[in-house]
Amino acid sequence: MKRFFSVLLCLTMICCMAGCSGVKATEPASNVYVIGFSQVGSESDWRVANTRSMTATFADDPSYELLMENARQQQENQFSAVRKFILEGVDFIIIAPTVEEGWETVLTEIKEAGIPVIIMDRSVAVDDEDLYLTNIGSDFLRQGNLAVEWLEDEIPEDKEIRILHLQGTIGATAQIQRTKALEDAVAKHANWEISSQLYGDFTEAKAYEVMTAYLKENKDIDVLYSENDNMTFGAMRALEEAGISYGNGGQVKIITFDATREALQYCHDGKINLCVECNPLFGPLVKELIENYRNGIDIPKHVYVDESAYTTQNITQEFVDSREY
Ligand code: AHR
Repeated sequence: MKRFFSVLLCLTMICCMAGCSGVKATEPASNVYVIGFSQVGSESDWRVANTRSMTATFADDPSYELLMENARQQQENQFSAVRKFILEGVDFIIIAPTVEEGWETVLTEIKEAGIPVIIMDRSVAVDDEDLYLTNIGSDFLRQGNLAVEWLEDEIPEDKEIRILHLQGTIGATAQIQRTKALEDAVAKHANWEISSQLYGDFTEAKAYEVMTAYLKENKDIDVLYSENDNMTFGAMRALEEAGISYGNGGQVKIITFDATREALQYCHDGKINLCVECNPLFGPLVKELIENYRNGIDIPKHVYVDESAYTTQNITQEFVDSREY
């Protein structure tokens, strides 16, 4: 109790001193531009790299403060985070949406509060595009088409193939567009068949679980089309345990999305056939867009980041080692 009173006395003295001095120790809040950032989660290595790019970009500049909330892949958590940002009176909001649908109400609330918004990474499906300033991220359909074009070159017209499709979070732009590219291509090629679509939620653990169960009954697979690297890693483990070979010269050709360093290494080593890049490092670009907005410079409604695709034939070990994520 005695200790409690002395702590209380100290705190009171500190508060009085701060009051007398006008609390000059920190910058007035109005000089710092506060950004609320609702991130999807930490489901993949891509996501971790994206979070790091965002936090490092703004941490380097004391005129900004980035408040990040991790939604743990739940859209409901994103709604709560955004409403908290509105109550706190942030200057700007960035949303990396888990799924495309369901954003109309909360985006309208942000608009009514007069806060500008950037939609980052994935997209939102809303009728009124004025509900956000810009959408920056990947062209996921182009990524899927790169994969499909590669497969078209690999497979002769007279060879029948069975494609096992591992899907990410259903309703996320990355899933919708990568799936569309594959389904459209399968509709065009009479010799291509999707043997099954398994739900892997963009995580290694889920992909391992569904693949292990699937492979107990089905082993007839020619191609694995996996919508991100982490699911691919889980699938590779399941294939190994089932005694099925994969990669260059193996039974199953593997197509993966993201092209993280670990996947590129597997690709270089011949274990993955194609890595389609999904670039997560757009923190600096997001900051530039915010600065342009603050300076009254017009910003485009959609900004795509640069991306390519890699095979064993076109990457070197040096390139793999230089990968930032
Ligand atoms: O939206 C980008 C996707 O989300 C990446 O492909 C994936 O790894 C992440 O979780």
